[in-house]
Amino acid sequence: MTLALRGEKLSRTFSSAAGDVHACVDIDIEVAAGELVVVRGASGAGKTTLLNLLGGLDAPTSGKVWIGDVEATALDEDALAALRRERLGFVFQSFGLIPILSAAENVELPLRIAKTPPAERDARVAEALKLVGLADHAAQRPTELSGGQQQRVGIARAIAVRPHVLIADEPTGQLDSRTAATVMDLISDLVHSQGLAAVVSTHDPLLVQRADRVIELHDGRVTSVTGGSLDAVGAAPETPGADEPHAPRTRAEAREQRQGH
Ligand SMILES: Nc1ncnc2c1ncn2[C@@H]1O[C@H](COP(=O)(O)OP(=O)(O)O)[C@@H](O)[C@H]1O
Ligand SMILES: [Mg+2]
Repeated sequence: MTLALRGEKLSRTFSSAAGDVHACVDIDIEVAAGELVVVRGASGAGKTTLLNLLGGLDAPTSGKVWIGDVEATALDEDALAALRRERLGFVFQSFGLIPILSAAENVELPLRIAKTPPAERDARVAEALKLVGLADHAAQRPTELSGGQQQRVGIARAIAVRPHVLIADEPTGQLDSRTAATVMDLISDLVHSQGLAAVVSTHDPLLVQRADRVIELHDGRVTSVTGGSLDAVGAAPETPGADEPHAPRTRAEAREQRQGH
């Protein structure tokens, strides 16, 4: 198994006059290429903090992060920025698109920053927009697109650089539930077809069924891990009442339920 992303004993404490906030405590996480891991938890559980640590946007108080075989937490700021640019794609809850740029220009931006040659840029933009089903909307500006379409542009922008790792912090948080499901399906399809390693946070129980693995966070700690190979080694018991009783938590469980188990 190729590990694309690994966090080891990650902790992040924020200090303020009011006291310390332990936003992440001793979190271990491993994500293989082609695997979709969903980080689930209520608001304030520590999802954004964890994703920021994994994406090299914030430094842990203690613990280590590896992107592929590179220890991100051992790099200086410039080397970390270069690693982020080359290996990581980010998707944000609020889409993060630039309003005066067209969909294609938004997708092209990280390629410009990475100094990708123009001809290859054009090809990558076209490919990314096609992958998210927006080939016919390349010239439109964000305000001329629906919320779901805007997030598709956000996803196209993230994958245009051909990252190894995709990090998406509540990518469906601003979408209605039907659109959220289609965006989550798109992420799941891309992860599996492109061999991306993805970490996606959500507090929506309906979205976890696209996950290969679900990591539940509560007050900065992992309270359960379901699905994938970690099931075999015995995950911690789930928090009771945190969930609808029969909602499938992984793709495997959803499949079993459909088959009437
Ligand atoms: N920059 C910060 N400074 C101080 N406290 C923070 C900061 N970022 C997050 N926190 C705190 O850490 C905890 C986890 O926050 P966050 O990771 O944003 O949770 P989530 O994304 O699950 O809603 C919360 O108590 C939050 O208030
Ligand atoms: Mg958050």
